Amino acid sequence: MHLMEELASGVAHDFNNRLQNMASALSLMRARVAAGCTSDLDSLIEVAERSLVSASKLAHHLMNIGRNTDVQAGNVFQLNDVLLSMNDLLHCAAGDRVDLRLIMSASTTAVRCDPHLLECAIINLVINSRDAMPKGGTITIETSTTCSSEGDNGYRYVTLCVTDSGDGISSDVIAKVFEPFFTTKPNGVGTGLGLPMVRHFVDQARGHIEVHSAPHQGTCVRINLPIATER
Ligand SMILES: Nc1ncnc2c1ncn2[C@@H]1O[C@H](COP(=O)(O)OP(=O)(O)O)[C@@H](O)[C@H]1O
Ligand SMILES: [Mg+2]
Repeated sequence: MHLMEELASGVAHDFNNRLQNMASALSLMRARVAAGCTSDLDSLIEVAERSLVSASKLAHHLMNIGRNTDVQAGNVFQLNDVLLSMNDLLHCAAGDRVDLRLIMSASTTAVRCDPHLLECAIINLVINSRDAMPKGGTITIETSTTCSSEGDNGYRYVTLCVTDSGDGISSDVIAKVFEPFFTTKPNGVGTGLGLPMVRHFVDQARGHIEVHSAPHQGTCVRINLPIATER
C-alpha cells in the first residue's frame, strides 16, 4: 500500500508537470492572441505539443514498468543564439512601454536542455516583468558565465538573469512564487503556473533558480544552468 501511494504520487507529479507546461503555453497563446501578436505562435504550439507527447510517452512507460528508461537529455546549444532567435517575440511580449535590453556574454553559453521549454521559461519571465511594470520600465536580459564557489571543483554555469524595474516582491510573497496556482494577479489574468513551469524546466536541466526582489526595487530572476561541453 505504501509503495503504491508513493508510486501514484510520483506519477501524478510527473503528469502535473507536463500539464503545467501545456497550460502555460496555452495561456501565453491566449495572451498573445488578445494582444494581436499572432505572427509567430509556432514555438508556443510546439511547447504544448511536446508536453503532450511527453505525457503520452510517460503513460507508455508506465505500461512497460520494470524497465528504467532514460530522461530526455536534450540538445547542446548556445543560450545566446536562443535569445537572439527570440528577439521579436520577446519585444512583442514585453510590449511598447518597456525598454527591453539584451546583454550577451562574450564567452560560451552552451547549455544542454530542452530548447522549447527554455523559450517558454524566458517568455514567462519577460511577461511577469511586464506585468510588474504597468507604467513601463526596463527589462534587462543578461547572459554570463559564473564559477560557483560551492563544491570542490567550482562548477561552471551559464547564467541567465532577467531583471526588471517593476513593483518588486515582498518577502512573504517570494516564499510562495513557485507554488503551483499561486498568483497575486486578478482572476483571468494570472494562472500561477508561470514560475512553477520555469522551476520545473530548471530542475530538469539540473540548474538552480533564485528570485531576488524587494518592494519597489524591481526583481531579478537568476537561472544557473550547468555549462555543456560542445562536440
Ligand atoms: N518580475 C516580477 N515582479 C513582481 N512580481 C512577480 C514577478 N514575477 C513573479 N511575480 C509574482 O509571482 C507570482 C507568480 O508568478 P507566476 O507563477 O508567473 O504566475 P502568474 O504570472 O500567472 O501570476 C505573480 O502573481 C507575482 O505576484
Ligand atoms: Mg507569470
